[in-house]
Amino acid sequence: MGWKVHGISFYLALQALFILHLIHPADATLGVIYGTQGSNVPIPSSVVQLLKTNGVQHIRIYDTNQDVLKAFAGSEIQVIIGIPNSQLAEVGRTNATAAKWLADNVVPYAGSVNITAIAVGSEVLTSFGSFSTSLVRTMMWIHDALIANGLDSQIRVSTPHSTDILATTFPPSQATFNRTLVPVLMPMLQFLSLTGSYLMLNVYPYYTYQSNFQAVDLQYALFQPATQVADTYANLMYPSLFDALVDAGYYAMQALNFSTVDIVVTETGWPHTGDANEVGASTVNAAQYNGNLAKRTNNKTGTPFKPQTPLVVYIYELFNEDLRTGATSERNYGIFGNDMNPIYNVDLTGQGRILAGNSTQYQTWCVAKKEVSQQGLQQALDWTCGQGGVNCSVISKGGACYLPDTLDSHASWAFNAYYQKNGNGPNTCDFRGVGQIVSYNPSYSSCIYQASNVTTTVGGSVPGSPASPRVEFKSSVTFGCLLLIFLVNLRYFL
Ligand SMILES: *[C@@H]1O[C@H](CO)[C@@H](O)[C@H](O)[C@H]1NC(C)=O
Ligand SMILES: *[C@@H]1O[C@H](CO)[C@@H](O)[C@H](O)[C@H]1NC(C)=O
Ligand SMILES: *[C@@H]1O[C@H](CO)[C@@H](O)[C@H](O)[C@H]1NC(C)=O
Ligand SMILES: *[C@@H]1O[C@H](CO)[C@@H](O)[C@H](O)[C@H]1NC(C)=O
Ligand SMILES: *[C@@H]1O[C@H](CO)[C@@H](O)[C@H](O)[C@H]1NC(C)=O
Ligand SMILES: *[C@@H]1O[C@H](CO)[C@@H](O)[C@H](O)[C@H]1NC(C)=O
Ligand SMILES: *[C@@H]1O[C@H](CO)[C@@H](O)[C@H](O)[C@H]1NC(C)=O
Ligand SMILES: *[C@@H]1O[C@H](CO)[C@@H](O)[C@H](O)[C@H]1NC(C)=O
Repeated sequence: MGWKVHGISFYLALQALFILHLIHPADATLGVIYGTQGSNVPIPSSVVQLLKTNGVQHIRIYDTNQDVLKAFAGSEIQVIIGIPNSQLAEVGRTNATAAKWLADNVVPYAGSVNITAIAVGSEVLTSFGSFSTSLVRTMMWIHDALIANGLDSQIRVSTPHSTDILATTFPPSQATFNRTLVPVLMPMLQFLSLTGSYLMLNVYPYYTYQSNFQAVDLQYALFQPATQVADTYANLMYPSLFDALVDAGYYAMQALNFSTVDIVVTETGWPHTGDANEVGASTVNAAQYNGNLAKRTNNKTGTPFKPQTPLVVYIYELFNEDLRTGATSERNYGIFGNDMNPIYNVDLTGQGRILAGNSTQYQTWCVAKKEVSQQGLQQALDWTCGQGGVNCSVISKGGACYLPDTLDSHASWAFNAYYQKNGNGPNTCDFRGVGQIVSYNPSYSSCIYQASNVTTTVGGSVPGSPASPRVEFKSSVTFGCLLLIFLVNLRYFL
């Protein structure tokens, strides 16, 4: 039986080519999963504050819980939402039921919540096989409904897979998909490719280790530097089991001739507690795994096979979910307890900043990011000392912070002054991506950086988060691309 891509015209295919360039994840991303199968999970508004306090800007939820979406409105946190498997049969009945789901659950929120993707089901091919043959069709219907609502350029459609869809994962370069799933995966990859979407993959080195702990090196599974494993066929060295599993996904797609679809790791994590037979589940290992994962992701290099494609990863998960069934580990992947205090300490920012809980006290400063565009830095500095209202005489000739006379040093001082002046509010240390919050004091000799006031309470009252101006510059590059799309589309219609 042949397959054809329903509803995707030449016009859309052309547009997808350009969208791909616009939305390619130029930035590595570390998000967290916010699951709510717990008896006492904190209320959504506190969760938003907790995420902000910890600098988390991307989350994934498993459904379209209205209370959660309302809490995220206006927060600028980017959200992947989902259709639970239990709803798939109804949503995927006809194109009209799919359109209705979107109209009820997504359209009312899309203007205020930054929804970036819809995960259609969860591990359907391996856990809900009876729906497999309807899956791609449902994804297309959801996408059609997005087009009808003008949301298709904002929201991607995909479906998360277990690595069990792979027949083999090692060596990565020899990986292939389970052949019985290929009749579904081929049209799915075609769809993902044409719509500028990505393959969602859930990657758990923990399970690989746990089911084979005599053979798999724990240090390799935890991203510890001691171990590297070679793929001699591809002549690549693997620094971690995580990298090897992600590349297995890329190679399996390549074996089907799809080499331009990116992978987004929609789940990965390590349990901090498990049953006696769940080898490796411990707070020490969980802290190491997630901390090293954050470092790995913030490093901005991709995998050995796709070094130019930064990692986009969602950590499973924010809170323990005590209502989940199964082994003890199932209920113990949370980074935070229900009291919103961290279960273990880990730095998710890669900036030497440990997790802040509901009553953690710490001070923060804002400085210029390393390795960013000098032009972007200069524009942000000019803005801060101008419209931003910071008195920059201290970094002018003769000022206490004039030396070292570098753009990085001057921008850092000005950014921090702005950040403190505005009460450390959200986005007051963004500067269009060139500023970053740090937990060390950047002051030196006679140059003093003002510090934030220490109390950061998440559960209780939160120090002022004034509506703050974002630094906005016109991006001629983006505008150029949009213009190009417009012209291409125009040509098509003429
Ligand atoms: C469903 O598909 C039919 C046939 O292609 C089409 O006429 C109809 O407009 C579609 N309905 C929706 C809600 O998209
Ligand atoms: C969502 O966030 C991205 C990245 O910050 C931004 O470019 C985009 O404009 C946001 N979209 C909406 C609808 O807020
Ligand atoms: C491939 O998938 C089929 C059906 O889902 C399953 O029975 C089989 O065990 C899988 N094979 C491998 C190698 O995973
Ligand atoms: C991939 O492309 C090669 C070369 O064009 C072809 O020989 C092969 O059959 C293709 N594989 C699949 C799965 O389509
Ligand atoms: C980033 O990762 C690459 C490849 O794994 C490695 O060579 C490099 O040393 C890492 N850089 C940092 C700063 O960790
Ligand atoms: C904050 O943590 C403390 C324990 O450190 C706990 O007693 C309190 O209930 C927590 N507050 C909230 C709002 O969860
Ligand atoms: C800026 O600060 C300097 C001292 O640091 C002061 O002399 C000057 O008057 C200030 N300028 C403005 C416009 O407030
Ligand atoms: C910090 O607290 C001091 C005194 O308690 C106050 O004068 C200052 O304005 C506060 N700074 C910020 C940024 O809130």
